[in-house]
Amino acid sequence: MSRHSKSSGVYTRFIRSSRTRSGLERVDFTARWYSPAVIQFLEPHEVHVWVVSTDIATEEYRNCRAILSIDERARADRFAFELDRTRFVASHGQLRMKLGEYCDTRPENLQFGAGTHGKPYLADPVTPLQFNLSHSGSLAVIAVTHGSPCGVDIEIERSKINTDAIAGRFFCVSENAWLRSLPAPKGRHGFFRLWAVKEAILKAAGKGLSQPLSSIDTTKLMLGTSASISFPDSGSRSRAFWVKELNVEGGYTGAVALETVAVDSPRVQLFR
Ligand SMILES: CC(C)(COP(=O)(O)OP(=O)(O)OC[C@H]1O[C@@H](n2cnc3c(N)ncnc32)[C@H](O)[C@@H]1OP(=O)(O)O)[C@@H](O)C(=O)NCCC(=O)NCCS
Repeated sequence: MSRHSKSSGVYTRFIRSSRTRSGLERVDFTARWYSPAVIQFLEPHEVHVWVVSTDIATEEYRNCRAILSIDERARADRFAFELDRTRFVASHGQLRMKLGEYCDTRPENLQFGAGTHGKPYLADPVTPLQFNLSHSGSLAVIAVTHGSPCGVDIEIERSKINTDAIAGRFFCVSENAWLRSLPAPKGRHGFFRLWAVKEAILKAAGKGLSQPLSSIDTTKLMLGTSASISFPDSGSRSRAFWVKELNVEGGYTGAVALETVAVDSPRVQLFR
């Protein structure tokens, strides 16, 4: 059996038959299927993380804008400032280019859908590919997996925000205790690490910030005593998320999270 056989689905095929009036017999298969292009690049137990610049030159901007959907262009045009517009076009254009490569499909032909809380997914072509996007400052991060729901977050470490006040409001008691235990120079960085880890998990769950950040306790992840976290979904089903912090230099902090039932840690490949 091929090592790529984990993704499965049900499809229907019509075969010639002498037993039916139409001469066609419907057969439902529970069969192995996969998109060869996705498989070529991504192992099932792996996450690819692409860090891309969103400060792009005019020609790149044109190329990115040309492949956006009408809705994406309209969203871009709603930004009041040119810088925000450029960065939106750059991140969504590069997202399309990357996903197009994985699916072997022209980037402008990709169609996206959105989950209950707005998490985008690839609606066409239908493949096992899962992805998530985050942008901050002049960078965007794109996480891509073969089948595992994933979430990614990148944060520029802004100096002008009151991290103590935000931590008190959005982090849980033991996370705040962990933050206070850090030596002073590491406190601000610790704050952004926590934020990125928590947001990546909630994005992997598809909830985003519709679920309070304080509802998950990531202290064990921050202490390094666990690499995964479980919490009940709305239907009380327990969901497990494996998390890895990303080493994005230049004043940024990032994290990627994957929903997984596997015991081994997934493999992260970071591309810049
Ligand atoms: C998703 C969310 C966490 C983004 O936070 P952020 O720090 O501003 O932004 P990031 O750059 O890290 O991520 C943004 C990207 O995450 C993706 N995203 C949007 N909703 C998402 C969700 N629920 N889960 C995971 N990813 C999501 C999108 O690709 C988005 O990019 P875009 O805004 O350029 O289209 C926040 O907007 C949120 O909580 N949204 C959900 C709120 C909700 O419940 N909405 C319901 C109405 S649909």
